[in-house]
Parts: sequence; C-alpha cells; structure tokens
Amino acid sequence: MHSPLCDMADIPDPGAKGFIVERGGERIKVFVVRRDGEVFAYVDSCPHLGVPLALDEDAYLDLDKSHILCANHAARFHIDDGLCVWGPCAGRSLEPYPVIVRNGGLYAQGASPIA
Ligand code: FES
Repeated sequence: MHSPLCDMADIPDPGAKGFIVERGGERIKVFVVRRDGEVFAYVDSCPHLGVPLALDEDAYLDLDKSHILCANHAARFHIDDGLCVWGPCAGRSLEPYPVIVRNGGLYAQGASPIA
C-alpha cells in the first residue's frame, strides 16, 4: 500500500484539501472534501474550461461550505456527487476520484501521492 495522502485529521470537517498524485505516469491535481464524517474526492478540473477550480490553496468550498465552488466563474457543485447545479457548466459533473480511508489515513486508489 502506498503512503497516505494525509491523515484524516489534517482535513477540517467541513473542509477540503488538494493533492497532486501520479496516475498512469501522469501528474494530476485532485481534491478531497470532508463533510459530516464522509469523504468525497474529485479530479481538480472544472467541466467548464478544464482548469483547476481553486485559486487559493484548498479553497474548494463556497462561503457556507454547502457546495464545491469553481473560483473562475463561480460554478457550484454538489459535494456528494460533483454535479454542477449553478454556473456555465450546469448539468455536467466533476470526475470522481477514488480514495479510501484506513486507520485514520486517506489513501488514493491506483495512484501515488506526489504532494
Ligand atoms: S472554469 Fe469553472 S466555472 Fe468556468
């Protein structure tokens, strides 16, 4: 098993954290959202323009932490399924990214953490 992306204690609840992982020889950005003890992870690429969602580090949620936010054009996404419910990509979805929680650590499935 690879080393964990982080300890679960490093992610606020509610809150989010971004990572760079290697998948299939390619480095990609992903982010994890924690809410009510559950964890949801997505590739950090907005369906609108294919660019990262957050302009500031780990700033993946809107002000009341009820939705994922794309800071570029303010699209809002459901936390639990990545569906865009407001903005220029409404009706499209973030790409889910597989993670597991084990022994208090957060692990990427099929990828190695870079940072
Ligand atoms: S790039 Fe995300 S809403 Fe435009």
